[in-house]
Amino acid sequence: MCGIVGYVGSQSALDVVLAGLRRLEYRGYDSAGVAVLADGQVAAAKKAGKLGNLEKELTEHPLPSAATGLGHTRWATHGGPTDVNAHPHLDNAGRIAVVHNGIIENFAALREELRARGHRLESETDTETVAHLLAEDYSSCGDLAQAMRLVCLRLEGAFTLVAVHADEPDLVVGARRNSPLVVGVGEGESFLASDVTAFIDHTRTAIELGQDQVVELRRDGVAVTGFDGSPADVRTFHVDWDASAAEKSGYASFMLKEIAEQPKAVSDTLLGRIDASGTLSLDEVRIPPQVLRETDKIVIVACGTAYHAGLIAKYAIEHWTRIPCEVELASEFRYRDPILDGRTLVVAISQSGETMDTLMALRHAREQGAHVLAICNTNGSTIPRESDAVLYTHAGPEVAVASTKAFLTQLVACYLVALYLAQNRGTKYGDEIRTVVTELAGVPEALEQVLDTMEPVRELARSLAGHDTVLFLGRHVGHPVALEGALKLKELAYMHAEGFAAGELKHGPIALIEEGLPVVVIVPSPRGRSVLHDKIVSNIQEIRARGARTLVIAEEGDTAVEPYADHVVRVPRVPTLLQPLVATVPLQVFACELATARGNEVDQPRNLAKSVTVE
Ligand code: G6P
Repeated sequence: MCGIVGYVGSQSALDVVLAGLRRLEYRGYDSAGVAVLADGQVAAAKKAGKLGNLEKELTEHPLPSAATGLGHTRWATHGGPTDVNAHPHLDNAGRIAVVHNGIIENFAALREELRARGHRLESETDTETVAHLLAEDYSSCGDLAQAMRLVCLRLEGAFTLVAVHADEPDLVVGARRNSPLVVGVGEGESFLASDVTAFIDHTRTAIELGQDQVVELRRDGVAVTGFDGSPADVRTFHVDWDASAAEKSGYASFMLKEIAEQPKAVSDTLLGRIDASGTLSLDEVRIPPQVLRETDKIVIVACGTAYHAGLIAKYAIEHWTRIPCEVELASEFRYRDPILDGRTLVVAISQSGETMDTLMALRHAREQGAHVLAICNTNGSTIPRESDAVLYTHAGPEVAVASTKAFLTQLVACYLVALYLAQNRGTKYGDEIRTVVTELAGVPEALEQVLDTMEPVRELARSLAGHDTVLFLGRHVGHPVALEGALKLKELAYMHAEGFAAGELKHGPIALIEEGLPVVVIVPSPRGRSVLHDKIVSNIQEIRARGARTLVIAEEGDTAVEPYADHVVRVPRVPTLLQPLVATVPLQVFACELATARGNEVDQPRNLAKSVTVE
């Protein structure tokens, strides 16, 4: 998830763009770049690292003054965070500059085509192909907006693109498919950005671009067309947020914003990983197929929420691949002298890619000869760099300390790895894999449904603000979901919260149940594994009989829970193994709302850090 700014007007384009990028830095901050149009030329600068690195570079090597420009702050997806991979990308003649947010799924094929036609491509990015394609189309039509429309029709995936051409000094062109782009309309100046924060100091009149639209930005106004060239209706709106609310797209906290982004984060993580025939192609997983076929044990290492993703992954991995899978807290792993060899695949899960416990665990695993696959959200971070292979989640930057969208995308990545292994080892037929892939593709819509029905959960959470303890119960994959629900409540509401395997209740924890104690129960689907379902319904009765207030998360249509539930939260029907994707969301909302009702700061809970780089 990158940040983009474009400007045309009478102010210094560089000043406007840099100020906008500073506001967008929360979207990604591993490299930054700018380009301006001056004296019939494109002048550009770009640098890996935080925006400060680029600003230093610009002080040492200033760009000419200009009134048209664009800029980018990057969250790497294709290609590590280096100077060369930073945006903008230029064509070979240096006449066009392009910045991009998103993933162009068919970029590998496009790059090969371009190379075959004699283009020199220097970076590892998908973006650079666009600069070259635009150059080709511009040379035949001489119209940057038309060239953009033609190029967009050839791209697959999700993208926001913004481009300038040295021959069109008063024009910035933007395009949007499945990634955000907002236009700001000023007096004698126009703006483009990933969100309104970037231009809120200059104008509060904005236009949100629709799907598959191209915008031409000039000083005296904007024109919007569809990719097919047809004129589009333009709806302007007034931005009444202040700058800090705008950074959070109007949400009260980054956590709420990130919870809401989960459908997109899940679909972005699936993007580009399945080809037209339904075969999984995890390009980044560069462990030889032979090694994967010979793997006789999988060990997942992770911390905190990522560890819970690993606990859920174990069920899918063992079921789909029949390879034994252990899940271990990274901080414990190397101290117990684990049995590892060249046939062990260690999967290290980490949002930040910098968690020291996880890093030390994977170093130990590699020293013992195991192969390490990282599942990570931060391109170029230490954990993927030190692993044999990596599968990136595409959740975009997660700012709130408590992990939400990263967790869901870690689950998706784990499912993909499990299916990939099953495909590779032949433990699942192609059509079985395609069935699961289709079910995964339906998850973003199911998540939208969950998010649309959260008001009763919020109300319930507020009503529990005065309690001291909440327990969580689950079975099978619902058990790690219960652990995650309890962790969220500890992290955010500072309450005593514990997750238990529902069957274990009778062996001790049931002694905790007293009159009015809230107990959240995650109920598996009655379809598929009815034995699990029936057992947990009995557990609900057991705790209710002892006075617990039962808050039940159950799938739509499951009426069996109703007689024993004080509150039922409905989630859409999904297969049992995928249920954690939908069942976790109400628990995130619950914890966030309860914490807010208790007056806590949800984005930065006390004593915690987003990335823990000490052991
Ligand atoms: C910290 C955060 C947790 C996170 C854990 C692992 O403790 O507070 O939210 O789950 O680190 O982080 P990672 O970046 O490795 O996923």
